[in-house]
Amino acid sequence: MTTVTPDDRAFLDDFAAMSAFGATAGGGVDRQAATEEDAQVRAWLTGLLTGHGFAVHLDPIGNLFGLAEPTPGAPYVLFGSHLDSQPLAGKYDGAYGVLTAVHAAIRVLATHRAAGTTPAYNIAVVDWFNEEGCRFKPSMMGSGVFTGKLALDAALATTDPRGVTVQEALGAASGTGDSELPPLAGYGEIHIEQGPSMEEAGVTIGAVAATWCAYKYEVVVRGEQGHTGSMRMSDRRDALLGAAHLITAVNDLIEHFPVESLHTTVSELYLEPNSPVTIAREVRLLIDLRAETTDILGEAFALLQERIAALEAKTRTEVDIVSRSIWQSGPFVEAGVALVEAAAAELGLSSTRVKTLAGHDATNVKDITPTVLVFVPSVDGVSHNEREYTTDADMLAGVNVFERVVRALADGALD
Ligand code: GLV
Ligand code: MN
Ligand code: MN
Repeated sequence: MTTVTPDDRAFLDDFAAMSAFGATAGGGVDRQAATEEDAQVRAWLTGLLTGHGFAVHLDPIGNLFGLAEPTPGAPYVLFGSHLDSQPLAGKYDGAYGVLTAVHAAIRVLATHRAAGTTPAYNIAVVDWFNEEGCRFKPSMMGSGVFTGKLALDAALATTDPRGVTVQEALGAASGTGDSELPPLAGYGEIHIEQGPSMEEAGVTIGAVAATWCAYKYEVVVRGEQGHTGSMRMSDRRDALLGAAHLITAVNDLIEHFPVESLHTTVSELYLEPNSPVTIAREVRLLIDLRAETTDILGEAFALLQERIAALEAKTRTEVDIVSRSIWQSGPFVEAGVALVEAAAAELGLSSTRVKTLAGHDATNVKDITPTVLVFVPSVDGVSHNEREYTTDADMLAGVNVFERVVRALADGALD
């Protein structure tokens, strides 16, 4: 990086201020949805938005919108991401996209004001509620409700591991509202890649052309509680042993597919009664399967069902799938991908077409309005970890590209 402009400085200063909310000793953030830290960062964002003339509104699932209406009565183009985080997470995932959306929108609105012009569409920014889906499942909850993929009542009634509902948690944190956004003419989001491909290729800007799909299953393994010392091994129905077999079965699914074409994880686990001298009666866990096509996921799931039947017989436990959430793979609109490539080229930045393996709010929103998703590199491909890092130079390059995306969408580039 050669020069840091006043706009760049303003962005970096705001990024540092934002990252103080929920900051962890290891340099990351812990800002799970509808916690005090999430409410604090949202209050800070509200101040930033109102200070720049946006009207701030909440919708019934707690999505936070900042609206600017230079063109009264016109539809909106929307830009944003999420401020919530995983536990002990990095400070870039989601938050970089929200702040970039705000700064890019401010710059575009200022340019129009200075020129005495108005964009074809009004401009809104958003902090989607609960993208991470760690405290309350599933992920992408706010954008899921907004796009009609998830019922509002069911989302509000979802509980965290302590039994607190989304409705209660939001009531105690940043609240909800009754705003409904007017019709959308497009959506844009910028995010860190969270994987290594762009860093390895040495490119600064990723134009996301498609998304992988995901199948997520909440599973209960049932056994019977007993004494760890006195109970015969042959009489046991150890739910934790059943879960252990299930965890390795999920991992071993990858052996049946080309390398790196299927990603499988058991990422969450609770056991009852979780006591040193007692055999577990119940384990609840989450299985997360991802691939480029639902054909691969369907085949993987069929294989898993066979493995489950075998491990049930071996461990004398029962495995029940109690809920599932799914998102499909699919392309992003070609005109949006080309727009990102052109913006990067105009700025003299390298770019490449990439896929997103992670879920994003854009994954939901692309199904209701033309959507653009932009990536900047992640150092070492690390994410959901305090070690997550994107250089200032790459962040600032992303803001410059995104400013062009905001200007183009507000001028009707995706009509
Ligand atoms: C959400 O970010 C997910 O990838 O599940
Ligand atoms: Mn994210
Ligand atoms: Mn994340």
